[in-house]
Amino acid sequence: MAYKTIIVEIDDHVALIRLNRPDALNALNSTLLGELAQAVTEAEGNDKVRCLVITGSEKAFAAGADVKEMAEKSFVDVFVTDLFGRQVNAIERCRKPIIAAVSGYALGGGCELALMCDFIIASDSAKFGQPEINLGVVAGIGGTQRLTRLVGKSKSMEMHLTGRFMDAQEAERSGVVSRVVPAKKLVEEAMSAANKIAEKSQIATLAVKEAVNRSYETTLSEGILHERRLFHALFATEDQKEGMSAFLDKREPQFRDK
Ligand code: HXC
Repeated sequence: MAYKTIIVEIDDHVALIRLNRPDALNALNSTLLGELAQAVTEAEGNDKVRCLVITGSEKAFAAGADVKEMAEKSFVDVFVTDLFGRQVNAIERCRKPIIAAVSGYALGGGCELALMCDFIIASDSAKFGQPEINLGVVAGIGGTQRLTRLVGKSKSMEMHLTGRFMDAQEAERSGVVSRVVPAKKLVEEAMSAANKIAEKSQIATLAVKEAVNRSYETTLSEGILHERRLFHALFATEDQKEGMSAFLDKREPQFRDK
């Protein structure tokens, strides 16, 4: 499918989605978010794809929702159409792992999009921020919730209330990103992580994603019970037999997603 605002490449078992509105620093307008939602849905439905990577340009992952598109909208416009709700749901619902590869600005909705992914690999030039306060609004696709869970109330409040940006080193220290790599190697590193994930049993991969995400939604004891039942359930798979015998035989496992 030909897209106007994103570029999608399927490289072996990985769908690499590049946000591509260079003139607007990849600002998220409804076309881009619609295309992104469609590309994620297609990748999820494509049996060949086992992991997704979302990236932007070296200067900007995404500088937020498109202010030009939003400026004249009324409450009724955004409420009745549930602005961005449908597109975001499609990304949040994806069961396959999604890595955000972030370089440059990840601001407002751009920061929230990165936080929506399963983990973030950042370049040393990455800058995260929730500057919606400067526009007289607040985050709208999860920033006040996800950032707070990651960095705690104090830092999240400061970022949302002052609009200050966090650099890559602070983001790594604060647990926002899994690691920081040189800008030139960002996509290569993200693709390498995605390819590593693609080699695993997909059944176990889906279970990991479900179990970790459960920790946001439930109590500790319920989350641990859910994890244990998934662990038990995986003993019903051929991949568990293969993984454990390969370890004992000192060879690489050949997972078959069965
Ligand atoms: C529309 C944007 C944009 C945005 C940048 N541009 N961010 N257009 N929406 N969010 C456009 C600029 O208007 C400009 O276009 C071009 O991209 C280059 O930007 P400059 O400002 O000239 O670049 P620079 O001086 O390097 O500054 C970079 C920047 C700044 C610090 C990232 O652009 C900036 O502050 N952007 C806005 C960030 C922001 O407030 N994001 C939150 C948005 S609200 P022209 O045509 O003038 O050359 C939001 C709500 C989320 O995200 C809730 C639900 C999704």
